[in-house]
Amino acid sequence: MHNEEFSFVHLTDIHVIDAESAELVERAFREIHNLRPLPDFVVIGGDFVENGTQEEFDSFLPVFEKLQIPAYTLCGNHDLVDGIDPTLYQRIFGDPCYAFDHKGYRCIMLDTTHRDYETYSWHGYVRPEAVNWLRGELSRLSGDHPILRGVRPFRSVGSLYKNTPLRSDTTRLLTGSTPEATEPIAWVREHNGGRVFYTSLGHPQDFRDENFQRMLVNALFWAARREPVRR
Ligand SMILES: [Fe+2]
Repeated sequence: MHNEEFSFVHLTDIHVIDAESAELVERAFREIHNLRPLPDFVVIGGDFVENGTQEEFDSFLPVFEKLQIPAYTLCGNHDLVDGIDPTLYQRIFGDPCYAFDHKGYRCIMLDTTHRDYETYSWHGYVRPEAVNWLRGELSRLSGDHPILRGVRPFRSVGSLYKNTPLRSDTTRLLTGSTPEATEPIAWVREHNGGRVFYTSLGHPQDFRDENFQRMLVNALFWAARREPVRR
């Protein structure tokens, strides 16, 4: 794994209400475009709008399209329709929890908005589903997934497939790096009670590597919900 230096901009709480306030955001974007070195991406940390309405998002989105570097977004409490419904945000920006890889780093975007006035207090609340998602992400990073037991980092002569973006409900197990790029190369997903393992490795020489063999055997046992027999 190679970690390269990079910079990014964190922009947050822009609270657009109309075309006039959107114009201020456009000015901020212009400033970002003028930065040197140009940042790799922008993180927008939520509260795009003030009252979570379609109208406000309609003022913001034409400006958002003018941003010329990648943006990663999080939902803010002001982006919830009627204060609890994230549907509009999700339709525009996608899943509220997700993670991405950048230059050898795993960036975790954890949603901290809540969805239920009745049950939970307003401040510092992370939904149980978001906590579970985070757990999955962290267990993958610490390499304690059963499929990775006994699997050490190894080299492959195969090509690195462009696999991103992955669905947000996948758990990444392995990342592959070349001097040019880093991509997930093995992941799992549980769907409708079934377990799915995928790897984009599989060059004939991979099958001679004991780590690759171990991973495949572990994956078969994991998918079948059985414990591997150790010899
Ligand atoms: Fe705010």
